[in-house]
Amino acid sequence: MNKKFLAGEKFVSQAYIDSEEKYKKMYAESLDNPDGFWGKIAEEFVWSKKWDSVLSEEDFVEGKVKWFSGAELNITVNCLDRYLEEKGDKMAYIWEGNGSGAEGAGRAEGAEGAEGAEGQEAVIRFTYKQVYEEVCKYGNFLRDFGVKKGDKICFYAPMIPETIFLLLACARIGAIHNVIFGGYSGKSIQERAEDCSARFVVTANEGLRGKKKIPLKEAVDEALSEGCNSVEKVLVIRRTDAEVKMKEGRDVWLDEVVKDEYAGDCEPEIMKAEDPLFILYTSGSTGKPKGVLHTCGGYMVYAATTLKYAFDVKDDDVFWCTADIGWITGHSYIVYGPLLSGTTSVIFEGVLTYPDAGRSWDMVERHKVSIFYTAPTLIRVLQKEGDDFPNGKDLSSLRLLGSVGEPINPDPWLWYYNVVGKGECPVVDTYWQTETGGFVIMPFPAAYPIKPGSAGRPFFGIEPVLLDNEGKEINESEGNGRLMIKRSWPGMMRGVYGNANKFKEKYFSRFPGYYETGDGARRDKDGDFWISGRIDDVLSVAGHRLGTAEIENVLVSHETVVEAAVVGVPDEIKGESIYAFVVMGNPSTSSGPSGSGTSGTSGGSGKSGTIEKELKDYVAEEIGHVAKPSVIRVVSGLPKTRSGKIMRRILKKIVRGESEDLGDISALANPEVLEELV
Ligand code: WT7
Repeated sequence: MNKKFLAGEKFVSQAYIDSEEKYKKMYAESLDNPDGFWGKIAEEFVWSKKWDSVLSEEDFVEGKVKWFSGAELNITVNCLDRYLEEKGDKMAYIWEGNGSGAEGAGRAEGAEGAEGAEGQEAVIRFTYKQVYEEVCKYGNFLRDFGVKKGDKICFYAPMIPETIFLLLACARIGAIHNVIFGGYSGKSIQERAEDCSARFVVTANEGLRGKKKIPLKEAVDEALSEGCNSVEKVLVIRRTDAEVKMKEGRDVWLDEVVKDEYAGDCEPEIMKAEDPLFILYTSGSTGKPKGVLHTCGGYMVYAATTLKYAFDVKDDDVFWCTADIGWITGHSYIVYGPLLSGTTSVIFEGVLTYPDAGRSWDMVERHKVSIFYTAPTLIRVLQKEGDDFPNGKDLSSLRLLGSVGEPINPDPWLWYYNVVGKGECPVVDTYWQTETGGFVIMPFPAAYPIKPGSAGRPFFGIEPVLLDNEGKEINESEGNGRLMIKRSWPGMMRGVYGNANKFKEKYFSRFPGYYETGDGARRDKDGDFWISGRIDDVLSVAGHRLGTAEIENVLVSHETVVEAAVVGVPDEIKGESIYAFVVMGNPSTSSGPSGSGTSGTSGGSGKSGTIEKELKDYVAEEIGHVAKPSVIRVVSGLPKTRSGKIMRRILKKIVRGESEDLGDISALANPEVLEELV
């Protein structure tokens, strides 16, 4: 793909970063003088107390950095209070419910600004002033309910206004939120709630996603049925009429306890810049998910600044990020970034393919969305449904299209650009991670041409480097290697919650002095980066991040499985799907892993068909449906090195149909397994 796209004149003429010189100058300044660069940006925020120093990063190699130390603030003051006077009546959020007809309309009945037109979605609009009032009300309530600064609150809740307001209310009073994506199971909720010693859980009786009803409360009940002793109260939002069990003394309906008396201002808790703001669990290459910790000051400045510059956000934009708040994308670019930037943004409860694949375009037309931000997996789904859906709607309000989650292949990129954007909206592919808090690499379309499939160049303050296999920096302009970051940036995670050493151990120890992203990348002669994906054992399934070890551990915990190896297989829509090899043991004789080749459990018999389904369901139950393998393949042995390490490299080749070229297999201790596998 040699084509390059420079934004049109209309876009360039109003862009913040409107020339390559400007990008280069600002980028150079951000590296040469980070204190000056970020200090100047930070001046635009409201601080209760100014910082002593912008950056004290002498301990970067230890994973210890501080931004704006000495400063005090509350992020919600920056999201809300500071706009009250001048744009209190500006629309902050446009919320749209999941369903057409009864469910959606029922939700909005009586609510201010509800649109109940026939067949149309229920929509509720909130001005900055209204969001302020809601957040204050919930903040006052939470304080009265016993929530204190530093308390951990787990959220397992739908994309509805109450959820967003409660998250912001936590930040208002200094409580630390920990959002758990609705696709995880009760077991996963339990693990996370225990790990962070949550005192409270926020959920809803049910969630609505497309045709599905998600039994959120039921999953929380399962999570709390054993263990989780730290959890004292569960707040239940009433999203539907569904009856759920309420445990006396523990479970409370939100609408029964949040009374009018809580209306009125809520004094913001004044936080230190490096106080925790939230925890978000994410999967790594080994063991259990890690609680990524973000703090108040640096995260605030970074989330706002990345959004402003990367998406060129202006006062009259309508921004729609389609992510779920269960992911960092939802935190930075639905909850915090848009409010910090004073923009209008859309929050959508449902799925982009419901009631049909035209939903997104219908919403773009109705809400006059100007910046649309979604994931390649969804772009591929919508592309497959054909051009009639986007062509049937007026998409002329769009001026920029964003992408996130995995590399976007040139073909869907071009469809997005040509069919959705009519060749007039730059496609900005944003590369970043839960750990980075905000964008790390993304193109500035008015500064230099975008290449479909490339994530462009580093954001301000980010110094990416590529390391070769020996761990040496590749300093020539072109190269291919491990993507590392050489210095800290304000939005960087500050630690793994509850484990002081883990941050250094996981991200800074294999290649000392660098932050390890876990991704591979190529840099071309223009300095544009092409992310190739994870080089560690982490999968990206429909943009959801999962560790192979996590899934393997679950499979092995099943009574019939003695060994398991999980690899990703390329998938047209999901990017990657989960392929699991399992070695079964006979529970009664327990032949163990060394009995490779002796067991007769493999093969396509009806019996293994049942066990395959059982194992798939088991993984879904233990981790969540996002982790459900597409294929379970029962084999009698796995390829291993002499020291007993599973050679996943070989398994990857096999599932990709590349068995002719297995590469160097001299380390393989049991070549006999290949015959069966291939
Ligand atoms: C991993 C981080 C950042 C929000 C969503 C995912 C992959 C993310 C891109 C992109 C290529 C990407 C990487 C990264 N990734 N965006 N634009 N191009 N790869 O957050 O769950 O923390 O996952 O997603 O592999 O390491 P996450």
